[in-house]
Amino acid sequence: MHDIIEQLDRKREAARLGGGARRVAAQHAKGKLTARERIELLLDEGSFEEWDMFVEHRCTDFGMEANKVPGDGVVTGYGMINGRLVFVFSQDFTVFGGALSEAHAEKICKVMDQAMKVGAPVIGLNDSGGARIQEGVASLGGYAEVFQRNVMASGVIPQISLIMGPCAGGAVYSPAMTDFIFMVRDSSYMFVTGPEVVKTVTHEEVSAEELGGAGAHTGKSGVADLAFDNDVEALLMLRRFFNYLPLSNKSGVPVRPSGDAAERLDFSLDTLVPDNPNKPYDIKELIVKVVDDGDFFELQPDYAKNIVIGLARMEGRTVGIVANNPLVLAGCLDIKSSIKAARFVRFCDAFSIPVLTFVDVPGFMPGTAQEYGGIIKHGAKLLYAYAECTVPKVTVITRKAYGGAYDVMSSKHLRGDVNFAWPNAEIAVMGAKGAVEIIFREDKGDPAKLAAREAEYKARFANPFVAGARGFIDDVIQPHETRKRICRSLAMLRDKKLENPWRKHGNIPL
Ligand code: HXC
Repeated sequence: MHDIIEQLDRKREAARLGGGARRVAAQHAKGKLTARERIELLLDEGSFEEWDMFVEHRCTDFGMEANKVPGDGVVTGYGMINGRLVFVFSQDFTVFGGALSEAHAEKICKVMDQAMKVGAPVIGLNDSGGARIQEGVASLGGYAEVFQRNVMASGVIPQISLIMGPCAGGAVYSPAMTDFIFMVRDSSYMFVTGPEVVKTVTHEEVSAEELGGAGAHTGKSGVADLAFDNDVEALLMLRRFFNYLPLSNKSGVPVRPSGDAAERLDFSLDTLVPDNPNKPYDIKELIVKVVDDGDFFELQPDYAKNIVIGLARMEGRTVGIVANNPLVLAGCLDIKSSIKAARFVRFCDAFSIPVLTFVDVPGFMPGTAQEYGGIIKHGAKLLYAYAECTVPKVTVITRKAYGGAYDVMSSKHLRGDVNFAWPNAEIAVMGAKGAVEIIFREDKGDPAKLAAREAEYKARFANPFVAGARGFIDDVIQPHETRKRICRSLAMLRDKKLENPWRKHGNIPL
């Protein structure tokens, strides 16, 4: 028995060595941690239960039968993050560059299947050269098995991808179907084809960083949600992020009690919005002052900055926040911001996270770039997402709510549960200047008359009381009591039940 135990220890030791000391040193030299080191940092100490440590590939081409590493380039299993269950796979770049073989894919599929059975999130730590070239179609099949599971798990359990090295070809499409993608600056890359192929096909010369680095995907493409400076920071922030997430679509949101009183007033909010309606202010200041302990986990902060999205807590319970930001493009809705917010609203809806919306929107962005880019279709995504959403929806109009954007931003008409406005809110079809130029075109040559018309329009419509008179706004509230009123609303809505009619699925304008 003693020998057998020793044999087991030796086998485990061999598996833990991965691709060997030389390749581990190379990984460290790039500033990257190994697959196991990453898991250790991500999970609560000593909580990791590893599976399939002895799995090997079955490839016999190109001399591969003599080149086997136990575990086959991915470490899989489950553990805890702050005492909450999570399934993990962590690709080992020291073994065939983390490339995905049939057996490697089977290991990933096994943890995904189990996560679905017990209702717990899956976190993928991706560091892979893509399909294992020696295995050919067996590897492609393995990818497709993972993709299919990503799709089946979508909206059932949260799926999070941390990109911690190169991810090329098939390696990007599994992360693309997960809910959130975090990257590490200067050491992680995502592209469908790398710089060499780009050069051959389009004659563009571009570095890996420019083509698919963290900056490209968090700032330009919007594929990734956040970027961090190194592996350690990324993993620790992922632990923090995990605390906000429900374990599944049936678990409800996690509760983290806070000492921040629900009835807390903040009088600085009374002067947040400048008197001049054309002057911007930072909507994030409002968010931070309203949520529990000023703790707001923003997502995609560098992409479509005219809309802010992220997770926070109210009375200890997770909420999703969507807010127009007047600081950028006056907070208007354009293609990118509509897509950014729509996907987030759908995530919240899928996982029963209430949606809190702060509105200060002058309308949709005009122009040929937007029209040719399909603002009609993309703006409709956000409209569709809010209209479809059945979770508690609380909305606060802090200033402008004009035109179609008023309708879209979680209005009463899209089943907003509680819709508040601040006393300075302007809820109308459009701004006073634009409105009088259209309806009083005959006065165009008479600036004095036009100014009088504008003042009349402002007095009549640039306020929240016209909407209030129709019940489109439930109440006009003092800015300083915003937190209190939202907390009460969310508490009232805790057991809200609303179902959409049965259908196979809707047809969101993709
Ligand atoms: C097998 C691979 C591999 C792969 C890397 N390796 N990629 N082995 N299959 N796809 C091995 C290397 O041979 C090397 O082995 C080790 O991993 C480290 O690779 P290096 O090239 O030395 O590392 P580095 O210089 O850091 O470059 C990393 C890299 C590069 C950018 C990922 O290796 C690369 O370009 N690989 C190929 C990427 C690719 O084209 N993949 C296929 C995509 S197509 P040794 O023994 O020397 O340590 C695809 C189709 C799926 O994925 C489509 C589904 C929809």
